[in-house]
Amino acid sequence: MLKNSDDALIDKIVSLKKKRGAIILAHNYQLGQVQDIADFVGDSLELSQKAAKTNADVIIFCGVHFMAETASILCPDKVVLLPEIHARCPMAAMITAKQLREKKKEYPKAMVVCYVNSTVEVKAESDICCTSANAVEVTESLDSEEILFVPDQYLGHYVSTKTDKKIIPWPGYCSTHAKIQPWHITDLKKEYPQAKVVVHPECRPEVIALADEVLSTGGLCRYANRDDVKEVIVGTESGIIHRLRKENPGKKFIPVKHAICPRMKLTTLESILWSLQEMAHGIKVTEEIRFKAKTAVDRMLLIGRTQTPAK
Ligand code: 13P
Ligand code: SF4
Repeated sequence: MLKNSDDALIDKIVSLKKKRGAIILAHNYQLGQVQDIADFVGDSLELSQKAAKTNADVIIFCGVHFMAETASILCPDKVVLLPEIHARCPMAAMITAKQLREKKKEYPKAMVVCYVNSTVEVKAESDICCTSANAVEVTESLDSEEILFVPDQYLGHYVSTKTDKKIIPWPGYCSTHAKIQPWHITDLKKEYPQAKVVVHPECRPEVIALADEVLSTGGLCRYANRDDVKEVIVGTESGIIHRLRKENPGKKFIPVKHAICPRMKLTTLESILWSLQEMAHGIKVTEEIRFKAKTAVDRMLLIGRTQTPAK
């Protein structure tokens, strides 16, 4: 029997992946087909942890550029490939290392917490990295009362509501999450009054104020697995709905309309196959900058994740 084109593509990817000794890592926002072919699907922290531990020679990173760059920081001896070179997080471009150096001069006593959605150069100028899964714990771990938090102002604001430290936020943002408005949530809540509201900490404070839980994408997946959770309004990028429904048949997950990250949607089965065939696009950072950035990433990985949704 003739195979359909997706099955044929999948067969080719699986056999070439084996030949290359590759592992496919995919973020929770990736297209459903991409998530389904991946060896591991997770949030930014889980993907960094997985990259740090894998024995594979080649990592195919289905996500955005900073994620592949973080894998390259952690695994300099491995080949890290990003199938779509234009898959870049716009927030990571909202601060440069030069701008951060200038800001540090204004606040000489402050320590710098850098969200992983940033370039390697900015990480290299920072004391520690964080993801949305551990931003509060990372901030609390620092021996300074003043924290320069870059580049996400909304994550920085969320952290400021959970700590007594003074947070000085950089004015960056995620346009996908910033477009989620309070009325998107309240309208859905009218339609689904029993549903729990879970939002990502990159959302605006007015949206966060309406949530039952504020969680990373990995935290949301664990929350959805709970027996007492049946219906959830999902205040984050809607690619995650695929995983939530797949892992929780019979439960209801309601996306916020238009919460789509175009950069996360660039990677396809075709681009993964091409990436394996051509061994492209290789993501590599220079040794000097890698060493500085790795210190900030390693400090974060030592803290890991303590975020678990309250029961
Ligand atoms: P997570 O670390 O929660 O997966 O978030 C990554 C991201 O890019 C959110 O927009
Ligand atoms: Fe960047 Fe937002 Fe897309 Fe995440 S969802 S990759 S923060 S633009």
